[in-house]
Amino acid sequence: MEVRFRLNGEERSVDVGPAQSLLSLLRDGMDLPGSKNACEQGECGSCTVVMDRQAVCSCLVLAADVDGADVTTVEGLSNGEQLHPVQQALIDGGGVQCGFCTPGFVVAAAHLFEGNPAPATDEIREALSGNICRCTGYGGILRSLEELAGR
Ligand code: FES
Ligand code: FES
Repeated sequence: MEVRFRLNGEERSVDVGPAQSLLSLLRDGMDLPGSKNACEQGECGSCTVVMDRQAVCSCLVLAADVDGADVTTVEGLSNGEQLHPVQQALIDGGGVQCGFCTPGFVVAAAHLFEGNPAPATDEIREALSGNICRCTGYGGILRSLEELAGR
């Protein structure tokens, strides 16, 4: 079936399979490999995208369900050469980690700061609670985001 949706600010239309996930569509059909497929079970958050103002695991969303939706992936956060403030904060604060977990952390954190420019530590922890680093390296991320929040 054909779906039409807004992807990183551009109107797109594409054929999707009946059981295809949004994650598969992004990576295999739209040439956007930033969202990672670490578990494909909704457990790790490495596939996080923002869909209609909600941070979601794209591995759990049917591609067919994005018809009419607005989707932002990690590729859509920067403005050309200008990084999103969350991306810059993670670089500046030593919060960049491996390529599997970092994209999901970036999208989840960007979504948090979009609605709350100065989140409390508990709010940051809550917003990132669906994102797992298998190496348990959360300290650099938290410190970077606290810095961005103004503390
Ligand atoms: S790949 Fe989607 S939650 Fe892990
Ligand atoms: S899973 Fe990416 S640094 Fe731990």
